[in-house]
Amino acid sequence: MPLICFASPKGGVGKTTLAANVADALRRSGQRVLALDLDPQNALRLHFGLPLQDNEGFAHELARRPDWRNAVRETPSGVILLPHGAVDIIGALDLATALEREPELLAAPLRAILADPDLMVVADMPPGASRALTLVAPHAAMIVAVLLADAGSAALVPEIESGRFLGAGSMTALFAGRLRVALNQLEPESRLSAAAAESVARRFGPRLLGAIRRDVAVAEALASQRLLLDLAPGSLAAQDLAALVRGIAAARPAMPEIAAAGWAGR
Ligand SMILES: Nc1ncnc2c1ncn2[C@@H]1O[C@H](COP(=O)(O)OP(=O)(O)OP(=O)(O)O)[C@@H](O)[C@H]1O
Ligand SMILES: [Mg+2]
Repeated sequence: MPLICFASPKGGVGKTTLAANVADALRRSGQRVLALDLDPQNALRLHFGLPLQDNEGFAHELARRPDWRNAVRETPSGVILLPHGAVDIIGALDLATALEREPELLAAPLRAILADPDLMVVADMPPGASRALTLVAPHAAMIVAVLLADAGSAALVPEIESGRFLGAGSMTALFAGRLRVALNQLEPESRLSAAAAESVARRFGPRLLGAIRRDVAVAEALASQRLLLDLAPGSLAAQDLAALVRGIAAARPAMPEIAAAGWAGR
């Protein structure tokens, strides 16, 4: 505990990038961190230097109820990684159907992971609403909805404010209280991008945790399968990442464990 989820109603906004790099930043501040990939795209591993041909993950074994620890990887960053594992479209559909029928297939290992009181878990979610997100949201101390700082983000604000993408039903309002927002790919020199960011900031107030600028260092880090703080610690995006992590820490009382761990000011 605790669990931080990176999710969004929209794809391609930087959920995986932020999940990986926030996990790394938390690890560098002295936390034990597990990065959990709940997206069948299986992309979180790419940030942690796993060989491209390494397709193993927990999803393959889910229906057989394995011990999730078997799929855990140590990574050079020190972050413990639980990769999703590669699945084709049929495999992804089968998995979604199995979870619909038997939510415990995911809920049980998740509870086991979260039972470790010293472990911080950072989860990368699939784009949009998903069975995985509906299952995981009740366990999350914080759900970070990632938005691009562009004109399209305005259309997503109601979706985030209502918490609709977290799943239907009366519990949605409860999870919505744990929702925070992170802006990504901000271009301060672009009037449109700056205006979009301002409008999101006005709308969400203190629930906006921070904004990461568009920075080629982010893409270069992914291309070299490294983490941003490893490849380009002095980059603009790395500075923004540090501020975002401070924003996460400041979002008390949702994350008392982080505040207690004393890394908020670093
Ligand atoms: N701040 C940034 N500056 C520059 N490039 C970025 C930034 N953030 C993300 N990117 C790039 O944008 C692309 C999409 O990022 P990412 O895969 O993290 O998005 P995602 O929301 O996880 O996508 P999906 O919905 O497919 O899971 C990647 O190529 C990534 O390197
Ligand atoms: Mg992703």
